[in-house]
Amino acid sequence: MAELDQLETELVGRIGAAADEPALEAIRVAALGKKGSVSGLLKTLGGMTPDERKVMGPAINGLKVRVGEAIQSRKAVLQEEALEQRLATEKVDVTLPVREAAVEAGRIHPVSQTMDELTAIFADMGFSIAEGPHIEDDFHNFTALNIPADHPAREEMDTFYFPRKEDGSRMLLRTHTSPVQIRTMLESEPPIRIIAPGRVYRCDYDQTHTPMFHQVEALVIDEETHLGHLKWVLEEFCKAFFEIDDVKMRFRASHFPFTEPSMEVDINYSRVGGELRIGEGDEWLEILGCGVVHPAVLRACNLDPARYQGFAFGMGIDRIAMLKYGIPDLRAFFNADLRWLKHYGFLPLDVPSLAGGLTR
Ligand code: PHE
Repeated sequence: MAELDQLETELVGRIGAAADEPALEAIRVAALGKKGSVSGLLKTLGGMTPDERKVMGPAINGLKVRVGEAIQSRKAVLQEEALEQRLATEKVDVTLPVREAAVEAGRIHPVSQTMDELTAIFADMGFSIAEGPHIEDDFHNFTALNIPADHPAREEMDTFYFPRKEDGSRMLLRTHTSPVQIRTMLESEPPIRIIAPGRVYRCDYDQTHTPMFHQVEALVIDEETHLGHLKWVLEEFCKAFFEIDDVKMRFRASHFPFTEPSMEVDINYSRVGGELRIGEGDEWLEILGCGVVHPAVLRACNLDPARYQGFAFGMGIDRIAMLKYGIPDLRAFFNADLRWLKHYGFLPLDVPSLAGGLTR
């Protein structure tokens, strides 16, 4: 009996001193587990006389029950302590303002937004998207576009050239998206209906010019395509893009080596305060050059001008973005000023579509 008392005192002491739940569990296994000290005592009952068993049975079982209870109550205390500790460290200040989710903090640049918008509009008219390299050769950027080596247009374009190669030729940064016309005609069969949005480069810098800017080229080649189609496409595009029923456009006779006849198109706008507004007004902004594809260009692309004809235009994406979103200075587009982007940018999940609305 004295032995039992001693065991009980020892176990209760150790239980009380257990620092955490794993330590407590180890004590439980050592006492009440299959090979535990208390379980071992219970097994000795079988070898006792009935009289001994009458005394020792209740004594050992009583010990087992009390040790079990001691473990349970210590466990409750330890759990309570662990919870208190977590509550103390995992504090949340519910009075703090809600932080913006990452997807709401970022902004889509107005140029990217405008490209998505015009892609949606032209895709709806049956155009597909074409692309070309930014580093071009002389043939695609000039020669095939009916701009021979000594043509003054090469100088007008303020071209960025790479160093000459051993054979004397030099690569350049494309000065317009028109080389994509050439690549498309060389690679595919008419009917052709593509747009090619992308970056172009010219050595020029002031309030309306930056050395890198964006154009979207359009090319339509078929057997019966004329200026009326070009005008209709441009009018429908402008109405959809500027989201107004009537857009005042001005077609001016112009000259490009790769189109004949050629025109430049201006859009009517006004300046209200520091903002630009489309529609009524007395100012005009040139947004694109266009015309009927020159027979020499078709021939350079192995197309028979007696059979095929078409039209093309090259539009300044930054210009139409300035007009639509009332942004007065082109240079701000590329300054990477986060405050500017926050003001003029778009939420990433507002993807423009004709069905859902271009801009909301
Ligand atoms: N490539 C011309 C430019 O950059 C624009 C243009 C494209 C004109 C297609 C006519 C046809 O100014």
